[in-house]
Amino acid sequence: MKLFLDTGNVREIEALAALGIIDGVTTNPSLMAKEGGDPVAILKRICDIVKGPVSGEVVATDVEGMVREGRDIAAIDEHMVIKVPFTKAGVQACKVLAHEGHKVNVTLVFSATQALLAAKVGATFVSPFVGRLDDIATDGMRLIEEIVDIYQNYEFGTEVLVASVRHPIHIVQAARMGADVCTCPAPVIEAMFRHPLTDLGLERFLKDWEKAQASRA
Ligand code: G3P
Repeated sequence: MKLFLDTGNVREIEALAALGIIDGVTTNPSLMAKEGGDPVAILKRICDIVKGPVSGEVVATDVEGMVREGRDIAAIDEHMVIKVPFTKAGVQACKVLAHEGHKVNVTLVFSATQALLAAKVGATFVSPFVGRLDDIATDGMRLIEEIVDIYQNYEFGTEVLVASVRHPIHIVQAARMGADVCTCPAPVIEAMFRHPLTDLGLERFLKDWEKAQASRA
């Protein structure tokens, strides 16, 4: 399963990409707004760092506007993926952009029917938001299970990109279900590393080693 970072923060991306575990990045207008600065320059810098798929989202809400903005996003770098919201206009824009050979990530997906439609118009990625479903007392991961099943039945090429990930259990469940990608905020990726028994175990190994060295001296 691929791991993407869900952030527009270049420093976070640099730090985690250096570990060799980041396959791509997703951004959205809220994340980019938090960073300030020139969004085009930031997206270009992110592409240079990760050298994998980087989603940049359109803010137009009509088909023509989304297609125009989508082409501009794609022109930033060969790694750019055009993110469009799941609306009727977004579905139409996805079809046009996908036919032109662009990679499209259909976002704000909250149901299996939406995911089916996104696949039919050639989306490269579909982004179901699991955390926001959990927030309204609906099992977000159940939706991932449904989408993975549906895509397998018809061999759609669209990749299931689990978004709105809030904790490492979401990642474990996504991997067990066979989701293609999980996009996570940096603190969730950091949490994947931590285990108190690893820290205690290492501490004990080093102490034992030092003791043995000292007794030999
Ligand atoms: O990038 C889209 C998604 O991952 C947002 O997550 O935490 O704002 O629901 P969240």
